[in-house]
Amino acid sequence: MQQQISDKKRLLSGMQPTGTGALHLGNLEGALRTWVRLQDDYHMYCCIVDWHALTTRYHDTEAIGPACRQVAADYIAAGLDPDKCAIFIQSHVKEHAELHLLLSMITPVGWVERVPTYKEKRDLLQERGEGDESISYGLLGYPVLQAADILLYRATAVPVGRDQAAHLEISRELARRFNRLYGETFPEPQALITEDTGVVPGIDGRKMSKSYGNAIYISDDADTVARKVKEAFTTPTKMRKSDPGVPEQCAVCQLRKLYDSQGYITSWDEDRQGIRGCMQNKAELTEILNGVLEPMRRRRNDLLNDPAELDRVLKRGADKAREAAEATMKFVRAAMHL
Ligand code: TRP
Repeated sequence: MQQQISDKKRLLSGMQPTGTGALHLGNLEGALRTWVRLQDDYHMYCCIVDWHALTTRYHDTEAIGPACRQVAADYIAAGLDPDKCAIFIQSHVKEHAELHLLLSMITPVGWVERVPTYKEKRDLLQERGEGDESISYGLLGYPVLQAADILLYRATAVPVGRDQAAHLEISRELARRFNRLYGETFPEPQALITEDTGVVPGIDGRKMSKSYGNAIYISDDADTVARKVKEAFTTPTKMRKSDPGVPEQCAVCQLRKLYDSQGYITSWDEDRQGIRGCMQNKAELTEILNGVLEPMRRRRNDLLNDPAELDRVLKRGADKAREAAEATMKFVRAAMHL
């Protein structure tokens, strides 16, 4: 089947509006920076997947809408440009639901039951004693909805973290299965792993993650950043300033390496020799981080303080996305004789 005429290839990626929706440095360095780099060379579709959030938050839906706006503001604060890419909320483009339904008909249950993220979530819910009723049909179908997100734009690549590999595999398998059953309609989307620069450590030294409570957010104000950096883990064996540090084991040193690509070499050297203290390191990191974050904070606050403007951006994104989605659905419906 004919691809829609377009010189640039299409990419789609998405994030869930988890918690308050605020994104952290791990999201920024692990994903958004790559998206920003790609937006000039590809048709980028940057989705905020609120329906996916329902798979685990069906009982507290009130907070999902505001969380989506936070994600959108962070996307733009990080440098995604609404003039270049489509920034939109999944539920604003109903075609995601239609394609999800159609794909669900050709998805063997065994495929989705085997997905590691499903098994983990199921086990976690069971552990918490939330019972079988909290494990919904929708949760099981999570990867099918994700496949719909991707195939709807006939995206050839999907910039995602390594943890999404299994989901991507299902999207590829569904593309193949659909093409086999109904004729060539979808390209097989490739995963474009975005984390290859390394994992961003949280302030406790583990991978930065909302669920660990160790994250520094794009939205954190200067004082919050200072407080979090002050609390951050450093070399456990370094009790005094004169004790040698091990920068490889120090969250502050690791963050410094990310954000101060020149200065960290000297600071790491001094740290190893025990001539640099953690206090100095932390004070400098705070300053560096606040320098990076300040313009982003300003941008996101401007947007959140102007709801009409943010609405316009999201509407424009949804309109752009819907146009591509509707074109794909015409092919899909015809292929399936619907
Ligand atoms: N499952 C992804 C995550 O948790 C979010 C997501 C939903 C997504 N649909 C997508 C990512 C489509 C990429 C493409 O991060």
